[in-house]
Amino acid sequence: MAQTINTAVTRTDAPRKVTGTATYAADVIPAGMLHGALATSNIAVGTLTGLDTTRAEAEPGVVAVFTHDNLPDYKTVKGFYAGGPGSASFWPMEGTEIKYAGQPIAYVVAETAAAARRGAQLIDATYEGAEAHAHMDPEESFVVEGREGEMITTKGDIEQGLSEAAQSIDVEYTTPFQHHNPMEMFAATAEWRGDRLTVWMPSQSVRTLRGGIAAAYGLPETSVRVISPFVGGAFGSKAGITPYTMLTIAAAKAVGAPVRLIVTRPQMYTVATFRPESVQKFRLGAAADGKLTAFEHIEIAQTSQFDDVVNPGTHITRAMYASPNIHTEQRLARSDTNTGGFMRAPNEMQTFFGLEQAMDELAHKLDMDPVEFRRVNDTDRHPVADVPFSSRSLMESYDAVSESFGWNDRTTEPGSMTDGDWLVGYGCATATYPTNLLASNARVRMQGTGGAYIELAAHDVGTGSYTIFAQIAAARLGLPVESCDVVMGLADLPVAPISGGSTTAASAGSAVHDACLRIGRAVAQQVSAQSEGPLSGIDPSQITLDNGVLRGPGGQSQPLVEALASTPAGEIEVIGEFRHPALTDQLIRATFAGGYGTAGPVTPEFAMFAFGAEMAEVHVHRWTHEIRVPRLHGAFAAGTWLNRKTAHSQLLGGMVWGIGSALHEVTEVDKPRARFLNANIAEYLVPVNADIRELRVEMLEEQDDYVNPLGVKGIGELGIVGTAAAIANAVHHATGKRLRHLPIRMSDLV
Ligand code: MOS
Repeated sequence: MAQTINTAVTRTDAPRKVTGTATYAADVIPAGMLHGALATSNIAVGTLTGLDTTRAEAEPGVVAVFTHDNLPDYKTVKGFYAGGPGSASFWPMEGTEIKYAGQPIAYVVAETAAAARRGAQLIDATYEGAEAHAHMDPEESFVVEGREGEMITTKGDIEQGLSEAAQSIDVEYTTPFQHHNPMEMFAATAEWRGDRLTVWMPSQSVRTLRGGIAAAYGLPETSVRVISPFVGGAFGSKAGITPYTMLTIAAAKAVGAPVRLIVTRPQMYTVATFRPESVQKFRLGAAADGKLTAFEHIEIAQTSQFDDVVNPGTHITRAMYASPNIHTEQRLARSDTNTGGFMRAPNEMQTFFGLEQAMDELAHKLDMDPVEFRRVNDTDRHPVADVPFSSRSLMESYDAVSESFGWNDRTTEPGSMTDGDWLVGYGCATATYPTNLLASNARVRMQGTGGAYIELAAHDVGTGSYTIFAQIAAARLGLPVESCDVVMGLADLPVAPISGGSTTAASAGSAVHDACLRIGRAVAQQVSAQSEGPLSGIDPSQITLDNGVLRGPGGQSQPLVEALASTPAGEIEVIGEFRHPALTDQLIRATFAGGYGTAGPVTPEFAMFAFGAEMAEVHVHRWTHEIRVPRLHGAFAAGTWLNRKTAHSQLLGGMVWGIGSALHEVTEVDKPRARFLNANIAEYLVPVNADIRELRVEMLEEQDDYVNPLGVKGIGELGIVGTAAAIANAVHHATGKRLRHLPIRMSDLV
């Protein structure tokens, strides 16, 4: 590997971000732009019986007020779960039906943002409400019809396995509604010029957005521009098309001027997705030596009345530990909310809060060290698919974090460690994230000594993609990182997949890598045909590109930059591709159509996951029950580290978010009205500086030649996965109390 990979390169977009010159979607002001605002429903279920817009229309500055009655040429798209690009399959403002609180009922266009919002507040709606249920009833759960084979796994005989166990547990964990709260609000600016449409919008998938909009309006994709160079946090919330975008596009068309909508913070809770509440049921059994004899996990996740949203957490938990008898079921239950969806990490956060506490509970019953319990049940084959892991550094992670944390200093008995008035507990948990692979292209143009342009329709959702793509090109082409300009976030660029499921570095990065190798081959061809030069006359198939240097079989060499400069054109442009063998034509086609053609994490040959282990020290005050996390350590292995700085930050950020999930975050619900109550960042609690003490991340070396040519696994979501369970296990160790519901609050300990 060349020097620019696996080093700590500072983000190339940092100067633009800290000087305010990075242009986000809501920074754009097309000439003549007007402002939009949404009015939303106060009730969750029922019918609009009247919608009086008189007062809104009379408000100074208001240009137009649109309702279900008078919004011309408003188009909707199919929900993702129904094979479309939308975040939900029920669309507001198509009629008078209300299916969730906060559902858009009117769209106001005005000369200023303030006038638009005042107008929205002056919409007078009357409703006929019906009974609403915010929470699902787990007793009413179901398996999605027709998908039973995918949603239910049975291996061996679970009852038999439980009857053979020396110890067993039968426990249930619950997790609440949670919302992403990215710093950057959802925003869309739409401008029509005749039949050509430009949309500026923060997006995790510009091609999905473009494809969905173009299809809805029956336009060729070339008539729709989607621009999203910077995204101020997304975490899954900006992955699909949501109503606010299509309403803004329709409004802009109707008023004949560009319109920009910035969603309000409270509306952020209802116009896009969120993490649904869930129930995680575990029945585990183990023999006296600790080997699992039975593994059962049933997940019940909330979904809306109109979508079957499945993020199959059981597909991940069942891959963790060896057991001869396995039973998993992925179930849904409905309630009256908008449709939930991805929230980093979309199912691993909730399911591992259950799984990794269940493992701790059983280890405790067996009187085994929780780390040793995991070691006994570690496996080099996927327990259900029965294929080997492409690489699996779970126990290496535990060993590394045990050492850095000082795991062996603990005394095992709960409540046995104290520090003055504080009860002290240690807890550990496994982290994992599947390695999902998607087809990608990337265009690289190299201009002699002038540097390189890397262009692809990928995204930097705040994770560092601009930097790592520049690093990959710099390493391959032999250029300084600063000479590699990365252009992304435009749907017109070569296809790249959704930035979701921790896929961008591995999949799009591999396409950048491939483009650079192609440049090497093409330039080798040209210089070998020249009459002079160090590589003149050498069979080009014998020339290799090695860290920016073309090398012949007999030790001849020439820097690629020089070789290119010696060619007549002095520049070259190629398209690189990533096509993992596990990607079928159908999956590749889906990605090219703007969809989610993901292969993995299990292929016919290998199971692909990144692993890690986290350890938390928790202090619980003996009298006030205040909970503190003075130390949180994690060790992770995810193949090649492209950038030690941005990767470290991703893992650290995940762990901080994990502390939030464990102790702070919950979207409170007004039960009788089925409304999200604390829809603002004052009352939706997230960790602050005082909540974060010592955090340590260890990045282990791991080689994986199967996942992709770079050997990279995704890390965007890995850091959060084990944190909540590690903290819950530490709380148990400190207090002897087993808290099976998130978030863990001091009131739970009274
Ligand atoms: Mo991530 S929740 O897949 O955007």
